[in-house]
Amino acid sequence: MKIKRVCVLTFIIMLALSGKGMSYPPAVGILGKAASCMSCHANNGPWTDERQTIIDVLDKDTMKSLGQADGTFLVTVKRGEPKTLLTVIGRTKGDTAEAPYRNAWLYLDASTIGGSSLSKFAPGWDVNLPMSCRIVGDKLEQYEGAALTVLPMTIRPTDVARDAELTLQVMLTQGESVKGKPKEGMLGSYFERKVKMKVTDE
Ligand code: HEC
Repeated sequence: MKIKRVCVLTFIIMLALSGKGMSYPPAVGILGKAASCMSCHANNGPWTDERQTIIDVLDKDTMKSLGQADGTFLVTVKRGEPKTLLTVIGRTKGDTAEAPYRNAWLYLDASTIGGSSLSKFAPGWDVNLPMSCRIVGDKLEQYEGAALTVLPMTIRPTDVARDAELTLQVMLTQGESVKGKPKEGMLGSYFERKVKMKVTDE
């Protein structure tokens, strides 16, 4: 039940970020321009240090991280072919703060903000789950003992897909927002990562 409620809420947020928020507060004009979770939520959680925060994107076939030396991620996909990624979010083993209860995230192509498309993902790329939220408690060999969420997302560059740069927006959270007041009640720490998408044709 809880998972369901959280994810329905997150879907509302997707609508909000897409500019189709309708009557959802605050005003529609602001919703359409919301560039990140921080437009509405407070960055007030205890999970502020990057050192104990895990944000990783893996290729599900190889189980290897797509992280680059500069802290970005590089996803290379052959046109027309599906690729499944794992979004891994959490806190390291031995974290000094109490673990988050639920992580929420969104892959966003900034060029889509304020546009009419419902998808905020890179134009021309099919994707099944560009945003989600999940209760902490998943396991992954390379992050043993960590408090994690791990969830797959399958993407596929269509005929019109081009290289793109996405922002992976992440919130580690605990507690629940007060109805209609997303800055109250919930503790959350916000992080961003750059994800470069490359489509190859041979
Ligand atoms: C346009 C404003 C807005 C934006 C942008 C937004 N949120 Fe929210 N968020 C809300 C509101 C409003 C609620 C629900 C509070 C309520 O119950 O009325 C909510 C609820 C949530 C909840 C569930 C809290 C609960 O009570 O169960 C999570 C988790 C969350 N947001 C994460 C995010 C993340 C992650 C992002 C960015 C990717 C984001 N939000 C962007 C407004 C926003």
